[in-house]
Amino acid sequence: MKHLITTSDFGSDEIEALFEDTRMFNDLQSNTYLSGKLVVTLFFENSTRTRSSFEIAAKRLGAEVVSLDVGTSSRSKGETIFDTVANLNAMKPDAIIIRHSECGLPGSLTDKVDCPIINAGDGTNAHPTQALLDLFTIVEHFDGDTQGKKIAIVGDVKTSRVAASNVKLLPRFGIEPIIVAPEHFKFNHNDFKQVNSLSEVIDEVDVVMSLRTQLERHSEVYYASLQEYAKDYCITQEVFGDRDILLLHPGPVNRNVDISDEMLEDKRNKILEQVTNGVAVRMAILKKLIK
Ligand code: CP
Repeated sequence: MKHLITTSDFGSDEIEALFEDTRMFNDLQSNTYLSGKLVVTLFFENSTRTRSSFEIAAKRLGAEVVSLDVGTSSRSKGETIFDTVANLNAMKPDAIIIRHSECGLPGSLTDKVDCPIINAGDGTNAHPTQALLDLFTIVEHFDGDTQGKKIAIVGDVKTSRVAASNVKLLPRFGIEPIIVAPEHFKFNHNDFKQVNSLSEVIDEVDVVMSLRTQLERHSEVYYASLQEYAKDYCITQEVFGDRDILLLHPGPVNRNVDISDEMLEDKRNKILEQVTNGVAVRMAILKKLIK
């Protein structure tokens, strides 16, 4: 049985095959691949895109979905997360999709269940399905020719699980990440080029991925207001000019902090295409993992 905890759980050939299925599902039409199957979603952190796209993906494949409302579950009566998952597993679901603030938690569940565990985001550690949908969006944009492409990942990289997964996945497909961030948001290591300002690298990158500032994961206050951060890191028409650059963001976008209103209307931004691709990629992942 296979789980998806980090992108390294899938070999490059498996990802190529996954993307073939993603293309097949890209119209998001209903089918019966998972008819009779049952998927459980368990979100201990807020979500708009990941949760709804997993649920839509499962339903489009003909599966049934049970979404545990963790706010009204017996967790509030002292049950551990491990016992919660063991009890759900005893109801014989075909997959459990989990988001949790604790790094490593989804991976620690794999030997306690009889079905695939899919990591929908664990703390600052990993968000494998987001990275896969980001890669798919880039692959499709460049007609598969990703070798030698460069992506600027802009903002709060240090606490971003999206960045953490992308900097591991994208280089496997020939894409070089360049980190653009103030010192306190950069990685502590120098595995990647890191610069302070997007203007330093705007003429060499093919893709810009803007990130949200994850205030909920900060132990100190870096800015009096996000407008202070936005002065240097908001993606604007002025920064982009007329360059042929793909603009991505995993969402949720903080308007005029991460990306300006104007750039959110710009045809170079493919953020909603990422969302559509997210459903198709998750359909392909569920088809691959559920037997
Ligand atoms: N990209 C992402 O994980 O969005 P949600 O938090 O809305 O799921």
